[in-house]
Amino acid sequence: MQGNQLLDFIKDRRSVRRFSSEPVSDEMLNMVLEAGRWAPSGNNNQPWRFVVVHDPAVRAKLAPFTKFGAVLKNAPVLICTFIHLPSMYNDTKDHQAVGACLENMLLMAHGLGLGAVWLGEILKSAAEVRDALGQPEELALMAVMALGHPDGGTSKPERKEMDELVVARL
Ligand SMILES: Cc1cc2nc3c(=O)[nH]c(=O)nc-3n(C[C@H](O)[C@H](O)[C@H](O)COP(=O)(O)O)c2cc1C
Repeated sequence: MQGNQLLDFIKDRRSVRRFSSEPVSDEMLNMVLEAGRWAPSGNNNQPWRFVVVHDPAVRAKLAPFTKFGAVLKNAPVLICTFIHLPSMYNDTKDHQAVGACLENMLLMAHGLGLGAVWLGEILKSAAEVRDALGQPEELALMAVMALGHPDGGTSKPERKEMDELVVARL
């Protein structure tokens, strides 16, 4: 892929919060997870862990933990992404690595024609979500990614101007 094609692809990815009832194939789901697996991490410690949720009853159980509960119920698949506390070596770098993992998965979903959104608001109930999913305390929730085939358009939030972001060119 040429650089400008990659840039267009990155810009074209948008958070999708409405999904059709079409299921996500195992092949597509595994490609999304595989993209996450290949994210960079400090010391290559790969601190991410995933709980994949299809079961509508489980999705409904998680819905009250966030104001985006309707998205959880509507998405055919959730990738609940955790950080594995015993694998960590540096708080900041390990959290950055999980962010890279999540972005890899968002981009892979986009590349497959799927829609996805990174849900962070649910972190206010991180421990409750972990317990509802039957996971041990050595996992801490980082995000829930809702995934499915897009249904309808997306909002297209703008970005700050480059001049505001590049604070110095030395
Ligand atoms: C750390 C983080 C937390 C987010 N949490 C939520 C959330 O809880 N609910 C939601 O609808 N979108 C959430 N988003 C998606 C952002 O709202 C979205 O990425 C941003 O508005 C830019 O829009 P775009 O992804 O369509 O370009 C989150 C994104 C990130 C990176």
